[in-house]
Amino acid sequence: MKMFLTILFTFALLSSSSHALQQDFCVADLSLSDTPSGYPCKKPSTVTVDDFVFSGLGVAGNTSNLIKAAVNLAFVAQFPGFNGLGLSMGRLDLAVDGVIPLHTHPEGSEVIIVIEGTISAGFISASTNAVYFKTLNKGDIMVFPQGLLHFQFNLGKIPALAFVSLSNANPGIQITSSALFANDLPTEVVAKVTFLDIAEVKKLKGILGGTN
Ligand SMILES: *[C@@H]1O[C@H](CO)[C@@H](O)[C@H](O)[C@H]1NC(C)=O
Repeated sequence: MKMFLTILFTFALLSSSSHALQQDFCVADLSLSDTPSGYPCKKPSTVTVDDFVFSGLGVAGNTSNLIKAAVNLAFVAQFPGFNGLGLSMGRLDLAVDGVIPLHTHPEGSEVIIVIEGTISAGFISASTNAVYFKTLNKGDIMVFPQGLLHFQFNLGKIPALAFVSLSNANPGIQITSSALFANDLPTEVVAKVTFLDIAEVKKLKGILGGTN
């Protein structure tokens, strides 16, 4: 009986998979809304090779800003070919003293490879607050597990260049300082929930564009 059921089950599986829609890819239709399982697919007949090529990471970003760094993203919103593939990339340009401030990607792990310069990088464990922190040189890679707070900054005397890859087409990004100080939560509340002084909160809201 058990054998019979196994055979029956195998047949059911085989016949259902032979009728399953085989899809090689699902290039994002960005005119529709993103969903937890990605964007709806562009009609395959309208897909061309250019949907699988992205040239936006070839040029250095503008680092004349507060963080002296530029992040060029190739997430699904910039590169629809990543849709459904569990992949994305980015380019980090860090001028001397440049920093990618403490941030998380709620939906993906990240790996960085240093192409030029010397970068200090680290992440903080969510379960113990242990810090994993290291100087990375040309050719080094480091992985930042999904959802954990992490950072990178230029330790060297020349601009640094690195590329990152993430394990989600839309990994999300939340920058801690922006979350805390670029909002309209009243200064007193931010001070209360962060243990910082009112003056420090006001200063950071001023720098980062928060109100109240
Ligand atoms: C870089 O950004 C700064 C500040 O926004 C701007 O003044 C400058 O013109 C930009 N440089 C280039 C090459 O786009």
